[in-house]
Amino acid sequence: MSELQVNIAGVSFKNPVLAASGTFGFGREYGRLYDISKLGGICCKAVTLEERQGNPPPRIAETPSGMLNSVGLQNMGVDYFLGSELPFMRRAKAAVIVNIAGRTAEEYRAVAEKLNDSDIAMIELNISCPNVKEGGAAFGVNAASAANVTRQVRRHCKKPLMVKLSPNAANIAEIAAAVESEGADAVSLINTITGMRIDLKSRRPVLHTNTGGLSGPAVFPVAVRMVWEVYKRVKIPVVGAGGIASWQDAAEMMMAGASAVQVGSAMFLDPYAPLKIIDGLRDYAAREKLQNISEIVGSVKAYE
Ligand code: FUM
Repeated sequence: MSELQVNIAGVSFKNPVLAASGTFGFGREYGRLYDISKLGGICCKAVTLEERQGNPPPRIAETPSGMLNSVGLQNMGVDYFLGSELPFMRRAKAAVIVNIAGRTAEEYRAVAEKLNDSDIAMIELNISCPNVKEGGAAFGVNAASAANVTRQVRRHCKKPLMVKLSPNAANIAEIAAAVESEGADAVSLINTITGMRIDLKSRRPVLHTNTGGLSGPAVFPVAVRMVWEVYKRVKIPVVGAGGIASWQDAAEMMMAGASAVQVGSAMFLDPYAPLKIIDGLRDYAAREKLQNISEIVGSVKAYE
């Protein structure tokens, strides 16, 4: 086993650095720059049962140390994904984690079922998108509804199931425990934090949907805190996301309890960020004489 190889819910990844959903598409654009199989894995843009146009523009805005998005789950639908995107990702030898979303628990289940016979590594159940009226975070901020959608998908899904949690929940550890009790194999967190900006001149919100999801370095300390809280609460692996931009951020997130990390907004500034993070973690493991990077997971020496 190499020093960066990690195991999450029975799936082996060559390193703990994954592309975060919605920031890497299906890898085609980044694939023009580098070999995308160098990443531990790719969480692809959310796929839904039917094609979706997403929200009207403007749906992206820059913020101090971050960005707001309100894409609204634009995608071509799961059948298109299976026929066109997955074959590309397979040819690129990427480990594929499919982020899935739906308006109802039944829709989530139907998407998961369609993926049962494919060779994807894992499903990421997106119950945390803050930019849609039905589904998404509406499921993820309430323990009973998070448990319900997880139960329904778990019953019909043959793939390892990672549930992506919302930082907009009052108690994210409670949601993590609820989905664990319904058979989730892992949790990933955090999705974006609901935010808003207003243009002074027009007095209009900068996003057409008024609010959007905040990501980037601004949310990193919130993500570290939530990963730490969830790590202490559940036994299943925790995958950390939220503002990771350097190998130091990745190591910090792992010390808080993350078995692997997702890199997202950082790639809009530097598309090579995940590769630099992988190299940085490898050097760090060597300097610290670690047999495997997993040795640092949850190793924070918290005060009593
Ligand atoms: O608006 C969006 O498509 C965002 C999705 C997400 O945050 O999961």
